[in-house]
Amino acid sequence: MTKLFSPLTIRGITAKNRAWIAPMCMYSCENKDGVVGDFHMAHLGSLALGGAGVVIVEATAVRADGRITPWCTGIWSAEQVAAWKPITAFVKSQGAVPAIQLAHAGRKASTHRDGSGSITLADGGWQTVSSTDEAFTGYFAPRALETSELRGIVDAFVTGAKNAIAAGFEALEIHAAHGYLMHQFLSPLSNHREDEYGGSLENRARLLIETVSAIRAAVGNDVPLFIRFSATDYREGGWDETQTAEVAKWCAEAGADLFDISSGGLITGVQIPSGPGYQVPLSEFIAERVAEPVTAVGQITDAQQAEEILQRGEVEVIMLGRAALRDPHWPLRAAAELGVEVHWPVQYERGKFPKS
Ligand SMILES: Cc1cc2nc3c(=O)[nH]c(=O)nc-3n(C[C@H](O)[C@H](O)[C@H](O)COP(=O)(O)O)c2cc1C
Repeated sequence: MTKLFSPLTIRGITAKNRAWIAPMCMYSCENKDGVVGDFHMAHLGSLALGGAGVVIVEATAVRADGRITPWCTGIWSAEQVAAWKPITAFVKSQGAVPAIQLAHAGRKASTHRDGSGSITLADGGWQTVSSTDEAFTGYFAPRALETSELRGIVDAFVTGAKNAIAAGFEALEIHAAHGYLMHQFLSPLSNHREDEYGGSLENRARLLIETVSAIRAAVGNDVPLFIRFSATDYREGGWDETQTAEVAKWCAEAGADLFDISSGGLITGVQIPSGPGYQVPLSEFIAERVAEPVTAVGQITDAQQAEEILQRGEVEVIMLGRAALRDPHWPLRAAAELGVEVHWPVQYERGKFPKS
């Protein structure tokens, strides 16, 4: 038995394997009101057919001003909930766990579909908000959120979480990575607040911890709650692995179950390493310091490579990004390559990979 194809139970949910789909924005809500459609069904459906244990849906905004672009998915309205339902039902029917990444883009919201900077108000953009009023390089400046507004951010995440459950999602992930709103509060490079949400590590982590606690209180004990962190800003004096591990422990105490470790995205002009498994050392650093499972993501493309990372004993789950875009059936192929017999969709059985 491989570790990649062994199940993992977290609270009330069991994933059939540890080859999971990482959240990936598709910028494909043509209606520009965050309501998913045919593209999302085909895209997420094919990933579920491909044998992944968990399919984590892209960064999905908990309120309209939290969308990265006007084409991003949302989870704040009844219409959005209704549109997600057939997709989560299909994902589940294929034996995969439907999960969703709850997000607010903060100062990196209101951008063009191709990522080429901010959209003007006249062209349908909106005033962004953040921890402070400093812009992400090349983007319009955000408005610093008042202390009194932060309860509204927590409440939006809670409503998003409750809506996600109503829409059929079985696991939740808070996006606290890649320079989006939660990360903007966490990092000393983007948080210069003077209230109880800025300054010390405890204060910078306050918004995230309050969000974790409030979501846990709202969804009960059976729903797994993951946190995606960027473990480092790759800049001296910024957010780093040690702070990530400390805040992950506080998140666990507040009700989080798993840490999905990525990196970067807060600032430009830094050297981000590249190469096969380039973020695995970050995942291992966090895994050595927390009791909860930790995932690895980033240029993990090969079945043997994925199994070896798991066999080293720290990482519990492999997240697949671009490899799954190239081959939505990556887990089925990986199982064949590792010589593991897994369930195939009955309609696809004639295409089953030769057993090795
Ligand atoms: C098209 C695309 C969209 C992405 N969107 C998100 C996202 O919505 N949320 C997120 O946390 N990461 C996002 N990412 C990052 C991936 O989840 C993943 O961490 C990254 O691509 C590295 O893994 P890979 O080398 O397997 O692709 C995105 C990546 C790609 C390629």
